[in-house]
Formats: sequence, structure tokens, C-alpha cells
Amino acid sequence: MKNRLSDQMNSNASHVATSQCSVAKLKEDIRKIKRQLNATILAHYYQESDIQDVADFVGDSYGLALTAQETDAEIIVFAGVKFMAETAKILNPSTTVLLPDMQAGCSLSESCPAEEYAQFRATLHDHVAITYINSSAEVKALSDIICTSSNAEKIVRSIPTDVPILFAPDKHLGEYLRKRTGRKITLWEGECVVHTAFSAEKLYALRNRYPDAKLVAHPECESYMLDQADFIGSATAMTEYVQKAPFKIFIIATEEGVLKQMRLRSPDKIFIPAPAAEDNECACSVCDYMKVNTLQKLYDCMLNRAPEVEISESIMRRAIIPLQRMIRMSV
Ligand code: 13P
Ligand code: SF4
Repeated sequence: MKNRLSDQMNSNASHVATSQCSVAKLKEDIRKIKRQLNATILAHYYQESDIQDVADFVGDSYGLALTAQETDAEIIVFAGVKFMAETAKILNPSTTVLLPDMQAGCSLSESCPAEEYAQFRATLHDHVAITYINSSAEVKALSDIICTSSNAEKIVRSIPTDVPILFAPDKHLGEYLRKRTGRKITLWEGECVVHTAFSAEKLYALRNRYPDAKLVAHPECESYMLDQADFIGSATAMTEYVQKAPFKIFIIATEEGVLKQMRLRSPDKIFIPAPAAEDNECACSVCDYMKVNTLQKLYDCMLNRAPEVEISESIMRRAIIPLQRMIRMSV
């Protein structure tokens, strides 16, 4: 029995060693092919840990958009979701943009089909249409200004106070902006499946267990979460806040992928993911859209130079206008 157990343990150990070795080899191959293609890998914080390891830049949606616009690489390999890769293509049209898996969607973007949005907008002629970057290229083309979680408040505040605002597609971010600015904002009824998957009861129990922990939340969370948060911000803003703040323990209410960069930058601090309502392996909230990208798919897309993001000329021409407005208004 003892021998069988140790055989089993040896075989498990060699399996782990083999898979670690193949991951290391795949990372090496990715770096090599990236150099050969003059490509750059841009990754969102919600990508799996191994993908973040091979990325040239890891950032939030605004940082990724700016980096994509400025790069002189011939190919952008976008390790994120489709609306982010589309944004990269619109801002840097002469560059090839690859997305490892075209199924990498977003519940917010999908909640707002362009035809329905166009009809809704048509009923609100006098409104300025501010649209969250988590939207399709077609919806961007129908909007006045794009925003991200890092600049939404600034952009809303820059609109004259007598002008009503239409905000799409995230109703929770829109509600948060209403509270922060006191502005009249008409909301589209979309939400993020990841940031609304937390459990208020489990959070309450966790806060009782760690009374000194600071609660850090993404503005896509529901109001019960935002109302009690010590800090609210984009994935980058959250990461910078926990690094600088003179506290030791943080409860993080966003997608679990962000914890990697937090732990790397602040190894002496403790980060606890806010608990999800559904039990899962990490007891945290995971974006299945982000996680369809894998290290293998990242390599394959460079090898095949596909799937490539393609957007019609007319959509590109119209969608770049509200994106460039956002960039101008964010400085
Ligand atoms: P960030 O602007 O923080 O990157 O958010 C994008 C996103 O999809 C959050 O769910
Ligand atoms: Fe979309 Fe939510 Fe996933 Fe972000 S976390 S990509 S908003 S589904």
C-alpha cells in the first residue's frame, strides 16, 4: 500500500513538473514568435496569471486603449475581451489586432445591441450620449463620448449642467455617477455579470471576521457594495491605491485576476477576494469571457495570424470620434 501511494505521489509530482515545464516552454515560444512578428502583447488585469506573465503591458481598459494607440508594433495581440481589441483597432487602424478567442465577449457589451440602442437614443435627442467603453464598435459609432471606469466622473462633470445625459450600458456605474455628480442621467439597463455576482451576506460575515480590512471596489458593483467601499476605482486605480495605502488587509470587489498584480506589487499585504454568491474553486468572482483566452490560444493566434479583429470602414470612421473625444477630455 505504502509503495503504491509513493508511486502515485511520484507520478503526480512528475506530472506537475511536466506541465510546469510545458508552460515554461510555451511562454518561451510566445516570446520568440512575438519578437519575430514585431508584435506586442497587451493584457487586461483579468487575464489568467500565465498570460499576464508574457504581456508587454498589463492595464485597465483606458491604459490599454492608450497603449494600443501609441504602439509602433506591427501586430497587437490583445489578451482581453472583444470590445477592448476593437477599441485598439479603431485607435490604431493600420495595425493588425489579434484576439486569441473571438468568443471573449462581455455581458455589458452584449446587453446593448446597436439597433436597440439607436432606437432608444432617437427618443432622447437633447441628451449627450456618454457610452462606457464596454460596448460594441457599432454602439460607440452611435455615441457622443466614450468613457472608462477611470475617467467617467471627469467626463460627466465636463458636460454643461443644463444638458441631460444618456449613459449606457452599465446601470450601476451610471447610478454611481448620478450620486457622485448629482446630474440628470438616463440609464441603459445593463450590468456586468461578474461585478453583480458578489454575496452581500457573505461580505458582511467577511467584514465581521476582518474588521480592519479596507473594502476596495470596482464601480460596476451594485450600490450596496459601493456605499460601504473605502475606495472605488478602475482596475489600475485599485491596484495603485492598495500599494500606496497605509493599511495591511484589503477585501477586493472585482474580478479575481487583479489580485496577481496587487500581490506582486505589495507582497507584504493581504488581499482577500470579495466572496461570490455561488460557491466555486476560488470563492471569488471570475469573468468567464476573459478566461476563454489561454496561453495556448495566445501562441496559436500569433502562429496563424488569426483571429484578426475586423471592423467596417464606416463604423471605424464614426467610432474613432467619441474615442478621441474621451482621450482629449481625460488629460
Ligand atoms: P477597467 O476599466 O477597470 O479595466 O474595467 C473594465 C472591465 O471590463 C471591468 O469589468
Ligand atoms: Fe464584461 Fe464584466 Fe467581464 Fe468586465 S468583468 S469584461 S464588464 S463581463
